[in-house]
Amino acid sequence: MMPSMREVIVAANWKMHTSPGDASELARTISARTRVPSVTRVICPPFVALASVRDALAQDDPDVGIGAQNVHHELQGAYTGEISAPMLAGLATWVIVGHSERRRDAGDTDEIIGLKLGRAVAAGLRPILCVGEQLGDREVGRQVDVVRRQLTGALAGHAPSALRHGGLVIAYEPVWAIGTGRNASGQDAAAMSSAIHSIVEDAWGDTRDDTPVLYGGSVTSANIAEFLAESEVDGALVGGASLKPDEMAGIVARAGLTAAARHTSE
Ligand code: 13P
Repeated sequence: MMPSMREVIVAANWKMHTSPGDASELARTISARTRVPSVTRVICPPFVALASVRDALAQDDPDVGIGAQNVHHELQGAYTGEISAPMLAGLATWVIVGHSERRRDAGDTDEIIGLKLGRAVAAGLRPILCVGEQLGDREVGRQVDVVRRQLTGALAGHAPSALRHGGLVIAYEPVWAIGTGRNASGQDAAAMSSAIHSIVEDAWGDTRDDTPVLYGGSVTSANIAEFLAESEVDGALVGGASLKPDEMAGIVARAGLTAAARHTSE
């Protein structure tokens, strides 16, 4: 598959924001302002708001995917405060795994993230696997090595067919660009996206990786065009701006142009 034919995805990571009531309002507003054909939209509210967002969108806009922001690597057990993949049945159809904030704050290692990936896919949750380097890694030109280690660690032991069938999406989120207002350039994102495809192809012994690769890190309606102008970039994982309906409307509208162009070139 040529890069230009891949799905275009805009995923909102609301992080630790919104109560269940706020979340349903916000989801409804965003959904009404982002009905753009051919763009896959996903909203990832906090766990406690999954049900209210599901209920808010069920009638009006069932096309919006609902995702969890994390999942535990075991199915059940003595893990106080944790949520397993089977528990998300009926609440979510997507899940973020390996977000850098969880790598930093919750000790998620590449190995644990790999286990989470397996649990997600086995439970029918479409995973968004996050990877990305620290500023220090980029300053010494080690960004691809870091992402290679993260990806090979997480993908190890998983059959490519299971991850493909499970709809794997990879999000490149350079840590230094998250929540800082300092986004990577479109070229940086495209270069890493190409590197990610090569790493996945090596890991899978495969020559035609068609996994969508998103960019995340200070994405806004003002800079989304720079990323989507790159044929290697298939959309965005949006943090802060995803809580603002105007921002989401602008981002998804721009994604719609890319999606339309990809459809016509099919
Ligand atoms: P910001 O868009 O706030 O930089 O966050 C990006 C992110 O971490 C999305 O998962």
